[in-house]
Amino acid sequence: MPATDEGRGTAGPTATSHGGTLRPAFGSLGSLLVRRDVAVATVAAVALAVVAATLLGAGATTVLLVAAIGLVLLAALHSHRQNRLVMYELRRRVGQLDHEVTRLVGRFDTTEQQHEQIRAEVRHTTETVEAITLDPAVERVNEYMKRVVVRETGHTYREVESLLNLYSMITVEGRVPPMRGWAASPDVLLLLVDLVRTERPGLIVECGSGVSTLWCSLALRQFGVDGRVVSLEHDEAYARQTNKLLAEHGVSHLAEARHAPLEEFDLGDHSAPWYSRRAWADLDRIGLLFVDGPPGTTAGQARYPALPLLADRLAANAAVVMDDTVRRDEQDIIKQWLTDVPTLTEERFKLEKGASVLRAAG
Ligand SMILES: C[S@@+](CC[C@H](N)C(=O)[O-])C[C@H]1O[C@@H](n2cnc3c(N)ncnc32)[C@H](O)[C@@H]1O
Repeated sequence: MPATDEGRGTAGPTATSHGGTLRPAFGSLGSLLVRRDVAVATVAAVALAVVAATLLGAGATTVLLVAAIGLVLLAALHSHRQNRLVMYELRRRVGQLDHEVTRLVGRFDTTEQQHEQIRAEVRHTTETVEAITLDPAVERVNEYMKRVVVRETGHTYREVESLLNLYSMITVEGRVPPMRGWAASPDVLLLLVDLVRTERPGLIVECGSGVSTLWCSLALRQFGVDGRVVSLEHDEAYARQTNKLLAEHGVSHLAEARHAPLEEFDLGDHSAPWYSRRAWADLDRIGLLFVDGPPGTTAGQARYPALPLLADRLAANAAVVMDDTVRRDEQDIIKQWLTDVPTLTEERFKLEKGASVLRAAG
């Protein structure tokens, strides 16, 4: 029977269950007598002792003494039983505590192991990061990335500045397609627009049509220059697209993109495909020549034929603008032109993609 049941409904000392309090079970004789079962047993013992003593002819003092001894024995028996219950409960609680302590120690060990594992991983990561940071190759890449970021930020700023200039110089009413990338960048467009403003060319010829055709024609209109733009375009779809753009901006009367499929030209040392002759045969006294095509994918030094083929159609004071001079191919072409025509001079512009303005002296 559980220790709790033992004392239920009684006023005597009890041992409570797990979670309760433990009280010593050494009750006093008085409290023992209050209990009904003990009281009944006591009365029975006293009665038995009195009956036995009377039968045996003992005196009243002896009878009382026997009764008292019986009571003391009963109290001792009861106390012994309560002590056993308390001991049982104590052992059970000690067992539980022992189990709990073992469990907590186990958990502590596991946590310690995990901490050690995490510390080892942090050490390893720190060492790896330090090794990477100190690696000269990584340092070089970092330096390179810094230079790229500084350069690109500079380019972006200058392109924004050029755009602001373009839009403040020229009235634009329609949608303008994206610049940069395959299209000319704002900085070279600003150079072209400014050449139109200052040199007032009667004929502008472009190799490769697109947004540059639009800005040149808008510049003609804006500055009241009596001139026109002819853009040679090897790709029929791009030619159509450019003509549509010109119409949207109401400058079709000032500019046209001519479809000029590429055909092979024999230029002595340099044979290459270039815009078909019939597309430019009628052009003469070109004041501004913008060389931005054909694309490099069509041939090595694909833009080289522009000067040999159009040289005798340039006006005396013509400006030849070569775009993309950051590229090796375009630099080699200019070198070759300068060799071919010793009177040619070059002015370089540090633009995003690089540009040079070439003029024949005299
Ligand atoms: C450098 S792009 C000429 C860009 C033109 N001057 C302009 O400012 O828009 C040379 C040629 O590439 C072709 N082209 C233009 N945009 C292109 C694109 N997004 N992808 C492929 N080819 C393109 C056209 O045939 C164009 O004549």
